[in-house]
Amino acid sequence: MFKKSIILVFAFSLFSPFVSIADEGMWLPLLLNKRESDMQKKGMKITAKDIYDVNNSSLKDAVMLFGGGCTGEFVSNEGLLLTNHHCGYGNIVRHSTVERDYLTNGFWAMNKSEELPCEGLSITLLVYMEDVTNKVLKGVEDSLSQLERENVIKDNIKKIITEATNSNHYKAEIKPFFYGNQYFLYVNEVFTDVRLVGAPPSNIGKFGGDTDNWMWPRHTGDFSIFRVYANKDNKPAGYSKDNIPFTPKKFLKINLNGVEEGDFTFVFGYPGTTQQFLTSHAVDRIENFEDPARIKVRTSRLNVYNQAMNQSPAQRLRYAAGVAGIANGWKKWIGEVKGLNRLGAVERKIEFEKQFNVWANITQDRKDVYGGLIKDFEKLYSKAASIEMSYLYLTEAVLCSDLMKNGRSIISLIDKSERDNLSKGEMQKEADKAIEKLKSYFANDYLNHKEIDKSIFVETMNIYYEDFAKTNFQWIKEKVDNNFKGNAKTYFDYVYENSFLSSKKESEKHLRKFNPKNILSDPAIELLSAIWGSVIEKDIPNLVVIDSKIDSLYRLYVRGIMEMNSGKDFYPDANLTLRVAYGNVKPYKPRDGVNYFTHTTIKGIMEKENPEIYDYVVENKLKELYKNKDYGRYANSKGEVPVAFIASNHTTGGNSGSPVMDANGNLVGINFDRNWEGTMSDIIYDPDQCRNISLDIRYCLFIIDKFAGAKNLIDEMTIVE
Ligand code: ARG
Ligand code: ASP
Repeated sequence: MFKKSIILVFAFSLFSPFVSIADEGMWLPLLLNKRESDMQKKGMKITAKDIYDVNNSSLKDAVMLFGGGCTGEFVSNEGLLLTNHHCGYGNIVRHSTVERDYLTNGFWAMNKSEELPCEGLSITLLVYMEDVTNKVLKGVEDSLSQLERENVIKDNIKKIITEATNSNHYKAEIKPFFYGNQYFLYVNEVFTDVRLVGAPPSNIGKFGGDTDNWMWPRHTGDFSIFRVYANKDNKPAGYSKDNIPFTPKKFLKINLNGVEEGDFTFVFGYPGTTQQFLTSHAVDRIENFEDPARIKVRTSRLNVYNQAMNQSPAQRLRYAAGVAGIANGWKKWIGEVKGLNRLGAVERKIEFEKQFNVWANITQDRKDVYGGLIKDFEKLYSKAASIEMSYLYLTEAVLCSDLMKNGRSIISLIDKSERDNLSKGEMQKEADKAIEKLKSYFANDYLNHKEIDKSIFVETMNIYYEDFAKTNFQWIKEKVDNNFKGNAKTYFDYVYENSFLSSKKESEKHLRKFNPKNILSDPAIELLSAIWGSVIEKDIPNLVVIDSKIDSLYRLYVRGIMEMNSGKDFYPDANLTLRVAYGNVKPYKPRDGVNYFTHTTIKGIMEKENPEIYDYVVENKLKELYKNKDYGRYANSKGEVPVAFIASNHTTGGNSGSPVMDANGNLVGINFDRNWEGTMSDIIYDPDQCRNISLDIRYCLFIIDKFAGAKNLIDEMTIVE
């Protein structure tokens, strides 16, 4: 028996998608001592304690959650912080007007009084974290039902959080790890007076745009600068002109020597979501159904918008921000599908599940708990399949035209008036507010917005119909067959043209005298109500039940996998908590006959320059600096300014803006993306292909100093050369 299981473990490691060879893993800072020797073997010269220490200041005190989904890092003792341009984007846009277009032209505060307060932006600093698994699971017995279990856990969590925060100004949260096999408490300090300090022009901060996005080689100066303010006691406080720059416990020193191929690097930040434990059934759903459906709908949306954006600069501005978001997911999923396919991810998972089943059936004890898991997954996933698609199409296709988005707000208004029993007057007040909102939709008559939105609506609804509703949604099928001779596009065309929501005059007319009865007979509202009712009232509640069952299966499955590999150090999936990923600066071969180097330089910006293409315009000032080789202290040993570099750190969405540090814990880059060939790393990591992309800190400082002349900011930083 013993021998056999050794062979099994060995066989398992050959097939396992979970064996973290090479650089896979996003590790908890609190438990980093377990990784210390491996990190040092790879080149790290500092200790795990230098990175995370509760009793003394450590690097973790310089790292923050920026807003709700990015990372940032302090680079001065006056609360100055760096993050990505695409993370600061929303706040840069908010401060921009046509006359003072900071998004296009950049913004630089030459002294603190010029910094711009960013309402609604918060910075979260981790004070400490703690393993609270025993406290959270106190009173949880195997005999409890899923619901009872959840309730006990909820009560325990409430108590722990109160205890952690009742005598201080901290905010706390508890997050599950390994699908609820472990729980950690996070006690945070949240700052809300955050000010914009600097941003390069878009053709630096977003150079290469969506064409270069998710790709290597890259030349994007993707950074922006903010500052955190505190009250006189250095504690969080709402915006006030009396606030003073926050003094962090730690800020990062900057290494202008950079890193080279083979050098150790680590990324410290807030990765959002990974799903390394998914079963073959789930990976198959993503690779063959969900991602392709999303890609198909978004391709049709992007075709419409890209054409519109090329028609006039005004139309470009109107759609640019939305399109960046649509294109970002679209491109990532295309890469993900290709990567999963290339790796044979589903087959690998099936192979692993076979191994798991063998292990699970060796003793009766195991068999009782783990024996039927894989079969149960299969059943639940197939039960969830069409419901999941129904929900996916609602968000990806149905709700993406303005017609349907506006229809959605009108329906919720009717729902609200019924639920809250609003009087006629109160209801009319709400309807008047809706008119105001609709005004922005009809604003700027010179834009072709109605035609564009109609194309979006007809195209996306037609995909929804052909690929899903025709076989799964009787109501729509009958409508199309009975009234439109089976031609769905004619139906959707009719809906758009005949809905009051597509006409300014009719909208005003209907909403000024708000009468739910008249509104519900509108063809767009009628269609949306039918879909909404079915998805939200029928599908979602079913999906919630199935998902919670699937989740509880994963809790056992992951526990089993860990038992099967006792002795191996597993990292929990990313869940927007602070993590350390480490690896080395490393080239890769994307395909046959092609080698990619580890660094790009300013020369590549000039090579990509194309004044005809919006995303490849280069500022004259930058060209001049290049021509004169006016690089100050920011050139490498060959006299070039490095722009970006790749390494094998395992990162994901949320890691944007994360500090990339060298062997000594000094800042050498700002993480901002991954390579296209490696985007499947959220599900399965391939050491040959997965790379994170970082902005070289020398290009960032070169832009601040030489391009923008913001020496005041450089003077605040501590630079080691
Ligand atoms: N791919 C980067 C990450 O997922 C975002 C880059 C933003 N830039 C852009 N051109 N859309 O967030
Ligand atoms: N660009 C991503 C972000 O914004 C990073 C990634 O997905 O690698 O977090």
